[in-house]
Amino acid sequence: MIEKGTPIEAAQGKLGILLVGLGAVSTTFVAGVELIKRGLAKPIGSLTQLGHIRLGKRTDKKNPLVKDFVPITKLEDLVFGAWDIFPDNAYEAATKAGVLKKSDLDAVKEPLQQLKPFAGAFDQNFVKKLEGKHVKKGTRRELADQVIQDIENFKKQSGAKRIVVIWCGSTEVFIQPGPAHASLKAFEAALDKDDKTISPSMIYAYAALKLGIPYANGAPNLTTDTPALLELAQETKAPVSGKDFKTGQTLLKTILAPGFKARYLGLSGWFSANILGNRDGEVLDDPDSFKTKEESKLGVLDTILQPELYPDLYGNFYHKVRIHYYPPRGDNKEGWDNIDLIGWCGYDMQLKIDFLCRDSILAAPLVLDLVLFMDLAKRAGMKGIQEWLSFYYKSPMTAAGLYPEHNLFIQEMKLKNTLRYLMGEEQITHLGLDYYE
Ligand SMILES: NC(=O)c1ccc[n+]([C@@H]2O[C@H](COP(=O)([O-])OP(=O)(O)OC[C@H]3O[C@@H](n4cnc5c(N)ncnc54)[C@H](O)[C@@H]3O)[C@@H](O)[C@H]2O)c1
Repeated sequence: MIEKGTPIEAAQGKLGILLVGLGAVSTTFVAGVELIKRGLAKPIGSLTQLGHIRLGKRTDKKNPLVKDFVPITKLEDLVFGAWDIFPDNAYEAATKAGVLKKSDLDAVKEPLQQLKPFAGAFDQNFVKKLEGKHVKKGTRRELADQVIQDIENFKKQSGAKRIVVIWCGSTEVFIQPGPAHASLKAFEAALDKDDKTISPSMIYAYAALKLGIPYANGAPNLTTDTPALLELAQETKAPVSGKDFKTGQTLLKTILAPGFKARYLGLSGWFSANILGNRDGEVLDDPDSFKTKEESKLGVLDTILQPELYPDLYGNFYHKVRIHYYPPRGDNKEGWDNIDLIGWCGYDMQLKIDFLCRDSILAAPLVLDLVLFMDLAKRAGMKGIQEWLSFYYKSPMTAAGLYPEHNLFIQEMKLKNTLRYLMGEEQITHLGLDYYE
């Protein structure tokens, strides 16, 4: 464990952000940063850019901006690279994704056009709905070596002093950890044997971690949630975090469910349906990719509600999640929730939510915060799983034997207390009895 107030290496020089997948989320993120840098948009949804953090007692009135309190990299110092299995540059990819208006994209056309993806490391068995032609060739070991080479070339060409790799690629099919993922030795032997149980996302993660580079996982893919890659992260002192950005419906679940629980309101059911028409929706139309997403979406309520402790409230709780691919809606997802509640003396109530959201607009600020905090973690000497970044994920990674914390408000407190700890400040417990002495 790092010591409280350990000196943190300064955020000097450029920070290279390498995005795996240059689709809707990635291009909305990059275009947004470029617009914000030019004063043409505001970083709404980003804790690192807009958030304040309270220090000391309420009466101290000390609430600096997070970005002034912790040494994070300035937006002006970010440089971007990417991989994709389609050769479109970021302007073309963003136009196809159809999230941002043409006028916004045109305002930052030049940097977007300059962002051309490296060929991807791909295996269609892991994303059945996509047939990319811009792909690397070779065994899994050769692919990993090529990804390492891409990272090194990018570093030289961009002048980046430090790198963070973040997966914003498609959701891969559901897989369980197997023998090839059990230890680093087994994993490296499996790379050499081109073992088909190593997914493309694991190849990128391996390449990044091998170089000691932080790796964040925005999809529910297994990737670094394996003993092999966690061992590598420890060895090379690289931070990892994941899985699956917490954006629309699951974000709302982790806001509402802690509230019902705090008031001891019961739940008999929660039915969630989504319609979306972007490429992510198309990928999730494959039952094997959907299964990975479903596991990630279903997990949150059980750990918040603790039915084993509250059988009267949640003992017969039924939770169902559905995602439907519906092209006319594009990236503008609609998420319906029907929540069946139980009140005093067992009387039932219902709550209906219809969230007309925009998937990538919700995800882009999370990408920004994550890359900045992953770089901070690396400079602070933190390695392995960064549980304090659970705030951003649907399926937070935790140490073996720990259940993940899904409650958004506990996650926020944990994140801010970690920042206070890193900077040598007192953690805030909200006890407050001393104000009355
Ligand atoms: N937008 C959200 O709210 C949200 C929330 C949680 C998770 N996610 C996840 O984030 C990811 C990105 O979402 P999106 O809407 O940008 O999807 P997208 O389909 O627009 O973009 C994904 C990109 O990844 C590329 N890709 C797939 N496999 C690749 C590989 N092996 N190497 C390189 N590139 C590869 C695809 O070609 C595509 O361009 C998805 O996995 C999605 O499930 C998104």
